[in-house]
Amino acid sequence: MSDALPIDALPRYEDLGLPGAQTELEQFDHLAAYRKLGPIYQLTFRGERWVAMGGLEANDAAWRNPDQWDYHESQTPFRETMGPTHVTQLDGPQHRRKRVNLKPGFAMSAIFGLIPEIDQSVASDLRLAAERPLNLHDFFMTALTRANSRSVLKCDFDDVTAGAFIRFEEHFIRGTSMGDARAAYYAEPAFVRDRETVFAFLGDLVDRRLAGEAVEDNFQRMIDGRRERGEPVERSELIPEAYLLLMAGTGNTAKLLNSGLQYLTQAPEWLAKLQAELAAYAPQKLLEGMASFPLLKVTLLEIERLFPAAPVMARCVGEDLVFGGYRLPKGTKVLHLQTLPHFLEEIYEDPYRFAPERWIGREYSKKSQGTFGGSTHLCLGINLVRLQMPIVIGNLLRDYDLTLGDRPRISVNVNYGVPQLADLEATFRPKASCAAA
Ligand code: HEM
Repeated sequence: MSDALPIDALPRYEDLGLPGAQTELEQFDHLAAYRKLGPIYQLTFRGERWVAMGGLEANDAAWRNPDQWDYHESQTPFRETMGPTHVTQLDGPQHRRKRVNLKPGFAMSAIFGLIPEIDQSVASDLRLAAERPLNLHDFFMTALTRANSRSVLKCDFDDVTAGAFIRFEEHFIRGTSMGDARAAYYAEPAFVRDRETVFAFLGDLVDRRLAGEAVEDNFQRMIDGRRERGEPVERSELIPEAYLLLMAGTGNTAKLLNSGLQYLTQAPEWLAKLQAELAAYAPQKLLEGMASFPLLKVTLLEIERLFPAAPVMARCVGEDLVFGGYRLPKGTKVLHLQTLPHFLEEIYEDPYRFAPERWIGREYSKKSQGTFGGSTHLCLGINLVRLQMPIVIGNLLRDYDLTLGDRPRISVNVNYGVPQLADLEATFRPKASCAAA
C-alpha cells in the first residue's frame, strides 16, 4: 500500500478536453476516457471530486471484496425513503443477514414454480391491452407489478393503487441520483401523496399478515423463515420487504423490454426466426428451462448487454484500498462504471450492434457482464427479471403483431451505452392464429 500514489496524482478527465457538462452521467465520455487515461481517473461531477473506475480489472477489484465499500454512505437516498433496514444500504454482517431473510422471496428455487401464475397474469393483461395504442413503459410496469401481486406477494391490487405505486417508484428512483436537489424533489405534494398511499397499503398488508392472515406466497415464507430462525419479525422491516416483492425494479425491467422490442423490430430477419421459435412457447415448456428457447435466451442476453438500465453505480470507499497503483482513502466517492466492458470491442465485437447471435455457443466472462452488478450486492431481482422477460416476450411474440409508434426512438448513447429514452408507444394486434384472437 505504501508504494501506491495518492489520488491527487490520478489523471484528470478534464484534461482530455472531452465533452462533460458535469451534471448528468451520460454527458461524460467514459469510454474515451478509459482508452486515454486507463481504468482509473478523477473527475468533477456535480461540484465534487469523484474517482471513476472501469473495465474488467475494475469489476474484478470491486466485486472481489464487497466489504471495502460503504453502502450505508452511498445508498443514503434508499435509507431516507425505505428506512434503516432496507437491504441495499446495509453493510457487512447486517447485509448478509438481510439477504438470508430475503432468499425465500427471490431465490430461483423460490420463484421458478411460479411461472404458470406469472404467465397467466401477463397473458391476461396483454389480452386486455390489445388493439389500442399504449404507453409501453407504463403498461409493462403495471403488468409486472400485477403479476407480482398474483405470485410472489398475493394481494388485492386495484388499478388506482397500482398507479400510485408506479408513480412513486419512478419518482423515488429518479431522485436517488439527484444530490442536493433530492429533498425538494421528494417534497413535491403529488409524490408525498403517492408515498402515503404506498406505505399505507403496505402497512395494512403487513398488519394483516402479522395478525395471522394465512396466504401461501413468498412473502409468507420470508416471515416464516425468520420465525423458524428465532429472529424478530418487525413491522417496520417487513414493509420495505413487501415493497421489494411487489414493485422494486419493474421500471428497469420495463426499460429492458422497451429497448429490446424496439431493436428486435429493427432486425426483421432475427425477429422472424425468434417468432418461429416462440410459436411453441408455453409456460410448461419454460418450466423445463431455457433449453427449448435457444434464440430467446441469446436475445435476452444481448438486450441485457446493450441496454443496462443501471450502467454506473455510485460508491463510497469504506476502508482504504489500492486500485491501479493509486490509494483511495476511506470516504472517496467512486463511480464504478460496471457496464463499461459491454462497449469494448476487444470483448464484444462491433459492440453497438444489436447482435444476439454473438452469444451462440460462446461464453463471456462474468466480469464483462455488469447489468445486475456483482458480488454480495448483486441485484436481488435478477432471477425474477430472468423469468419475467421470457414470459413477456414469449407471450407477446407468440400471440401478437406489434406496431411501435415512430417516436421516441431509444438510442444507445454513443458515449457510454445509456439508453436515453425508454418510453414507447405501441399497439399489440392478436395474430389471426392465436388463442388471444
Ligand atoms: C432489468 C432490471 C434490473 C436491473 C438492470 C437491475 C440492476 C441492478 C443493479 C446494477 C444493482 C446494483 C448491484 C450492485 O450494487 O452491485 C441492483 C441491485 C438491486 N436490485 Fe436490481 N435491477 C433490476 C431489477 C430488479 C428487480 C425486479 C428487483 C426486485 C426486487 C430489484 C431489486 C434490487 C435490489 C433490492 C438491489 C440491492 C441489492 C443489495 O444491495 O443487496 N432489481 N439492481
